[in-house]
Amino acid sequence: MVMGILRNAVLGVVLSAGCLLPGKVAAQAPEPAGPDTVVFAPTRGKVTFTHGAHAKANECGSCHHASRPEKPMTSPRQKCDGCHTEPATVPMKTDRRFAYHDTEARQGTCFNCHAKAADAGKQVPVACGDCHKRDE
Ligand code: HEC
Ligand code: HEC
Ligand code: HEC
Ligand code: HEC
Repeated sequence: MVMGILRNAVLGVVLSAGCLLPGKVAAQAPEPAGPDTVVFAPTRGKVTFTHGAHAKANECGSCHHASRPEKPMTSPRQKCDGCHTEPATVPMKTDRRFAYHDTEARQGTCFNCHAKAADAGKQVPVACGDCHKRDE
């Protein structure tokens, strides 16, 4: 009886070790690239975000932060609005708008990098109307 359980346990370890091999290959496969273009439609005016071009030019982690213990990610590049809602709900403190930029739009994921790029002489949207477009 005890031996039987032990043997099954050993067999289980051998089997799962075998199963890990294809799993490892899958983990090394390229991760999903995400959308090419995202159109956000907040009340302030539509924002067309070229995700594909941004993902090519920058580290994924410059926008997709690591999972946090207070609200762990369900996928490595989970959409921001899965956690950052308007208004923020416990345990979250950073609402959706603040995830992208703060009230004065002087900082935040989108704004920090744009401000730095503008300082370096690049043509990037920094004014509200550069990103938020009202329908003509
Ligand atoms: C400049 C910021 C930025 C960079 C850099 C970036 N992403 Fe994203 N990504 C976003 C935002 C914002 C969203 C959410 C879009 C939405 O709400 O529809 C997103 C969404 C995604 C999604 C879709 C998630 C879902 O659940 O639908 C995937 C996959 C993804 N990104 C992968 C990547 C990968 C891989 C990289 C690097 C090669 C990368 N991203 C780089 C900002 C970025
Ligand atoms: C699975 C949940 C989850 C997802 C998805 C998520 N975040 Fe967060 N985020 C958090 C948590 C938890 C914190 C820390 C608590 C807080 O500030 O509310 C945080 C904090 C932040 C902060 C505050 C500054 C900091 O780093 O603490 C910013 C800005 C932010 N996230 C931006 C984003 C952006 C942009 C995306 C999408 C590309 C995103 N987050 C996706 C959970 C998430
Ligand atoms: C890590 C740096 C970085 C981050 C983060 C970033 N951007 Fe950008 N963005 C740039 C740069 C640099 C350019 C100029 C593009 C070029 O010169 O090719 C740009 C250009 C743009 C443009 C105009 C050109 C185009 O591609 O449409 C829009 C709109 C834009 N970004 C929106 C956003 C939004 C929305 C976010 C947040 C979800 C964001 N960006 C986050 C660096 C960044
Ligand atoms: C780099 C691009 C960018 C710039 C510059 C920018 N925004 Fe945004 N803004 C966004 C994105 C992306 C969102 C998120 C939209 C969403 O999730 O629906 C947003 C959301 C908002 C929201 C939330 C609206 C709602 O109805 O939920 C307000 C208000 C806002 N922005 C105001 C401003 C103001 C005011 C400025 C100028 C001081 C500004 N934004 C500059 C990209 C930008």
